[in-house]
Amino acid sequence: MTENLSALEQAAAQPLPTSDELAESWTHIPSVNPTPVEKREEIFGHLGFGSDFTDHMAHAIFEEGKGWHTKLIEPYGPLTLDPAASVLHYGQEIFEGLKAYRHDDGSVWTFRPGYNAARLNASARRLAIPELPAEDFIASIVGLVRADEDWVPSAPGSSLYLRPFVLATEPFLGVRAAHKYDYLCIASPSGAYFTGGFEGINVWVSPDYHRAGPGGTGAAKSGGNYASSLVPKLEAKEEGYDEVCFLDAATNKNIDELGGMNVFVVYEDGSVATPKLTGNILEGGTRGVILRLLRDKNVDVSEATIPLAELVADIESGKVSEVFACGTAAVVTPIARLAGEGFDVSINVGDVTKSIYDQVTAIQLGHEPDPYNWTYKISA
Ligand SMILES: Cc1ncc(COP(=O)(O)O)c(C=O)c1O
Repeated sequence: MTENLSALEQAAAQPLPTSDELAESWTHIPSVNPTPVEKREEIFGHLGFGSDFTDHMAHAIFEEGKGWHTKLIEPYGPLTLDPAASVLHYGQEIFEGLKAYRHDDGSVWTFRPGYNAARLNASARRLAIPELPAEDFIASIVGLVRADEDWVPSAPGSSLYLRPFVLATEPFLGVRAAHKYDYLCIASPSGAYFTGGFEGINVWVSPDYHRAGPGGTGAAKSGGNYASSLVPKLEAKEEGYDEVCFLDAATNKNIDELGGMNVFVVYEDGSVATPKLTGNILEGGTRGVILRLLRDKNVDVSEATIPLAELVADIESGKVSEVFACGTAAVVTPIARLAGEGFDVSINVGDVTKSIYDQVTAIQLGHEPDPYNWTYKISA
């Protein structure tokens, strides 16, 4: 390893206990009213994203002086929140997103859960939220996925999306860090992202809205960052774009990232670049995986400042051959059109993007060897 690993990548590389070691550490309260098999099969027949939820959820509570306690895998259901709960007023909340995959032999695996555990805690530190030990994070996932194992779909491209999150639940009106928090993890069966071909998306580069600014919370996965991306996204949708690309707030000149994905640029000479981590960008787990895979293939990869003007000129001249976005939901999405104030350029959906997609998904699904120990077995 020649390059310096980020703090998150270093934390993600720490060895984890096995799922068997963690499986019983959260107390399971089984649902007395689980979804009938026929209903689940019906849901599996039209899988979308984020609209159906499994029978259980993981749930723990943090109180000052007690730490994290009451660690349960309990029936899925509404929360009882005091109207004064500080999350409802000051937005003190963080979340994560990862997936469980069914392999061909029926076993269920997840991908780099240590990374998501480390990132949740990096977000926690920025939002003045108490950290959750990585072992608890992983135990909650193991307990939940084992309880709802039948909810892990097996259709090509499908997965069980996992959404861990922490919210400030202390009933208190006043701007200070809360003294009480709830951690939950919910699970949602999701379908293939690419249902037709490997088609590219149209991206609008926002000239006037920013997602995050210097010293802000852009590097944390916190609800407020996404709330502020909604108006630009709505406006772009109205003009026929699929996603918004944000520029850095300090200069309004350099590519930061999309509202929920990191960006990569592939050059005609084979080199690849992605915006460097400035503190405004969310450090994506998929971004880290792609950097590792490319570096290990001796591709010339850089984490760099990518000025928008230069990118557009390089697309127009043919120096840039592909541009893609990446994140847990889609893994990799080609960008076919990039437009903004004064420019509108088309980009080929090329082979490098597709081969990265194929390589990452092959490792996730156990179709290729996993020399990096990225896959984590949840159940046999
Ligand atoms: C703002 C933002 N950037 C990038 C990503 C990609 O991160 P990951 O690859 O860990 O899903 C996400 C998704 O979590 C995101 O919300």
